[in-house]
Amino acid sequence: MFITFEGLDFSGKSTQIFLLRERLEKAGHKVVVIREPGGTPISEKVRNILLDKKNQEMVFETELLLFSASRAQLVREVILPHLKKNHFVLSDRFHDSSVAYQGFGRGVDIETLMEIQRFAIGDAVPDLTFFIDIPLEMIESRKIKHNAELDRIELMKSDFYIKVREGYLFLAEKEKRFRVIDGTKSKEEVHKEIMKYIEMFESGKEK
Ligand code: TYD
Repeated sequence: MFITFEGLDFSGKSTQIFLLRERLEKAGHKVVVIREPGGTPISEKVRNILLDKKNQEMVFETELLLFSASRAQLVREVILPHLKKNHFVLSDRFHDSSVAYQGFGRGVDIETLMEIQRFAIGDAVPDLTFFIDIPLEMIESRKIKHNAELDRIELMKSDFYIKVREGYLFLAEKEKRFRVIDGTKSKEEVHKEIMKYIEMFESGKEK
């Protein structure tokens, strides 16, 4: 089963992936966790170019193609081989991030963008996608709390995040595999909700 996690920066995706991995492994499943951009030696190199604060002159088209190139490699080198063996693949971001960030955030044409994504991911369409939704004020306070060093994309101002969030909500309406999760709840509650959806999917109720 292929599950992707989406959300604005600091939405708590990685905590949820950690909890889900533990839970699935305890139940005897083989679980592979990947993060985007990255996850293979080539993709990690592309990640460094994308997030490097020195690369301020990068145009949006380059940004989109680099994310997609990193993804195409990850799909063929890691995701598809594991799915073939019936493993769980959990991905911290996937192609929906490109639609939300590069499409809605940066204004790259959505149709073109989706076509590029279809080419990049091929058969690796997620079974379920969790969008962990948090209000913008919460991002600001988490940023301060974590005293985080921000990467090139996180340095964007909040009107950018407003557009990115709209992109996710657009996808949630459009794509059946999307589940919108209230990220303001405690991490245990969020985890429970995620498990509920996975169990529903697995029992075939939602297919
Ligand atoms: P990362 O440090 O992995 O952030 P996070 O922990 O929030 O996932 O950095 C990834 C950044 O790249 C993040 O700001 C979102 C952005 N991004 C895109 O703009 N487009 C994409 O297709 C992907 C995968 C990520």
